[in-house]
Amino acid sequence: MAQGSWYDADIDHVIISEEQIREKIAELAKQVAADYAPVADGLLLVCVLKGAVMFMADFARALGRHGPPAELEFMALSSYGQGSTSSGVVRIRKDLDRDIAGRHVVVVEDIVDSGLTLSWLLRYLESRAAASVEVVALFRKPDAIKVSVPVKYVGFDIPSEFVVGYGLDFGERYREVPYVGVLKPEVYARS
Ligand code: XMP
Ligand code: MG
Repeated sequence: MAQGSWYDADIDHVIISEEQIREKIAELAKQVAADYAPVADGLLLVCVLKGAVMFMADFARALGRHGPPAELEFMALSSYGQGSTSSGVVRIRKDLDRDIAGRHVVVVEDIVDSGLTLSWLLRYLESRAAASVEVVALFRKPDAIKVSVPVKYVGFDIPSEFVVGYGLDFGERYREVPYVGVLKPEVYARS
């Protein structure tokens, strides 16, 4: 591990390394580029803030090497009520800046857990008359299979543990960690 980052002492173990993330994103981008090669007016990538911000940045650049042109859009949603489990009650905190009617949309998601947030978002995007909507999610947890939400492109299936890094946070911290890992129990005890 790189010497001396503030967060190293807080991470119990790494689940997915920086290198694995980089390789997987290159693969996902190639698949998406191949599937959307015929799309003349380009793709609309919709990033769900804040967790997917790192993935959006790296995925968009990887896609740029092989794929059709892409436009980058950002949305912010609140899906959690009080606790740490998805309620399925979604509030839009930042909406799309443009009309997506007739456009081919790819939702760029960090992690699909229960799938409730995503299934709400897919219905919303379809209601705005997108020509097509697909999802690329870097991580998926086993609970995701309980809700039938069609995620066409998945990076990694990971265990049902709370993870941080690469955009994912605990209390707004650890988003800048370049890999994905599990926090030490004492970090939770501290907060
Ligand atoms: P659902 O359950 O609706 O929720 O699929 C997906 C959203 O929940 C967040 N999430 C996590 N955030 N570590 C995080 O930092 C995790 O392990 C985790 N699991 C789910 C995330 O915002 C995701 O978009
Ligand atoms: Mg998210």
